[in-house]
Amino acid sequence: MSNHDAGFHWWQTGVFYQIYPRSFQDSNGDGIGDLPGVLARLDYLKETLGVDAIWLSPFYPSPMADFGYDIADYCDVDPMFGDLAAFDRLVTEAHSRGIKVIVDYVPNHTSDRHAWFIESRASRDNPKRDWYIWRDPKPDGSPPNNWGGFFGGPAWTLDKATGQYYLHQFVPEQPELNWRNPEVVKAMLDVLRFWMARGVDGFRMDVVGLLIKDAELRDNPPNPNAPPDLPANDIFGRQLHTYNEDQEEVHDLIRQIRQTLDEHPETCGIGELWGDLSRWVKYYGENGDELQLPFNFRLMGQPWTAEAMRRSVDDLEAALPPFGWPNYVLGNHDQIRLATRFGGQPQARVAAMLLLTLRGTPTVYYGDELGLENGVIPPEKIQDPQGINLGAHRTRDVSRTPMQWENIPQAGFSSAEPWLPVSADYASRNVATQLADPGSMLNLYRRLLTTRRSMAALRRGSYQPVDTVPAGVFAYLRADAGERVLVALNFTGKPCRLSLPDLGQGRVVVATHLTRDGAVDLGDMTLDAHEGLVIAL
Ligand code: GLC
Ligand code: CA
Repeated sequence: MSNHDAGFHWWQTGVFYQIYPRSFQDSNGDGIGDLPGVLARLDYLKETLGVDAIWLSPFYPSPMADFGYDIADYCDVDPMFGDLAAFDRLVTEAHSRGIKVIVDYVPNHTSDRHAWFIESRASRDNPKRDWYIWRDPKPDGSPPNNWGGFFGGPAWTLDKATGQYYLHQFVPEQPELNWRNPEVVKAMLDVLRFWMARGVDGFRMDVVGLLIKDAELRDNPPNPNAPPDLPANDIFGRQLHTYNEDQEEVHDLIRQIRQTLDEHPETCGIGELWGDLSRWVKYYGENGDELQLPFNFRLMGQPWTAEAMRRSVDDLEAALPPFGWPNYVLGNHDQIRLATRFGGQPQARVAAMLLLTLRGTPTVYYGDELGLENGVIPPEKIQDPQGINLGAHRTRDVSRTPMQWENIPQAGFSSAEPWLPVSADYASRNVATQLADPGSMLNLYRRLLTTRRSMAALRRGSYQPVDTVPAGVFAYLRADAGERVLVALNFTGKPCRLSLPDLGQGRVVVATHLTRDGAVDLGDMTLDAHEGLVIAL
């Protein structure tokens, strides 16, 4: 079992599962998922699926301009999701099942309804004025620099009453904190302490690469490679992000965050970080004194081919410092669904096997274990500000549709009409139906998770790519003291013959189609179309 991996940390050997609380389980019939709903599904997470940690996207008081990533109080629970007592119960019950709890930490910006911002905007000489980033207009009245927001439009909004602009790189309802102010740093570190005292085991830290901006707030240069068809308001997409992200000084802050986490040993810091590999890797810290897990999203940015996946994994392995532990993400609440991105169900199975057999911590996004595809959201039902501002094709609602539990109305998610429509395929694609189907995606995930729990080579072993395989196949060896596993993944729709005589005989322990097991001769064997195999050697 993973907790018997001496010398390894829980966040290395465990499998993480991301829950988007609005969409997981509604317990009180208002169409919105909540914390008691998560509590009610803990047995699913532990017994049925078998994950080791849950990451909860924000459940804090919020006007929901960005669905909880606009926080009005860092140290409470929005009544929509429950209350602190419900959170405490969830932590206690999760821990009693051996599940770790990771919460979201959104340090770059608050809601414009946060008490700090209400004070800050009250007057230019308010003691909290400098807690946010205020600047005078340019002489012609325009914003202080040319930065654009991720969701379209300029990154500055003029506060008419006080005559200054404030910075917000997301929606205007998300003013950015000034982390150059020591009072802000102290207050935000105290937020970590608040949740650690309540027993949380880790934090997923939102856009931490943005915490410190260029001291002079210089204009960003134009991006010469910007796609020509960007919507007119996508200023952000037309720029290089030279001065608004990954500034050197951010690392001092991350070290302070880490020191705070270390006040409760074994608390894990996970960062949402997007930069180039060379910049990204710095977030582990020069001596491992920053984040344990800078999120690695690289596989999602590649074409879905064996060659691109291998290159991405090998580049990561080569770039990691000796103390750096890898991790992989194939889906989350900001991206289109894995099964849609990779061209359908057969390759979604290969993706599952890849994610759960690479060296490093996997994070599974809720619903991917059922092979959920992008939801179809009628234009008038779009909720996400990115979809509203930048066009329906950019809406993140598609990957936030309700979890599909059973073939009953609203898929067992809620007794009311949910905040986003349940996908039409719920009648067949749901937990209950897939549990009863031995070949289902859910049963593949379960099988992969069980296998990972039983094989140290998969949890913590070394990674070695295999060169002598045909195009379209990605194969690698995982090895740990005496235990060796070959993973072979066919990214194509055609059978592929493997000849690896040096590896001798093996035994199939998981097949993506769940249709075969038993002995194989590695000297001469064939992967079916879209087939992946985990083979014990
Ligand atoms: C992160 C979150 C995303 C949110 C944004 C602003 O990228 O994952 O959902 O909209 O930050 O907080
Ligand atoms: Ca509810």
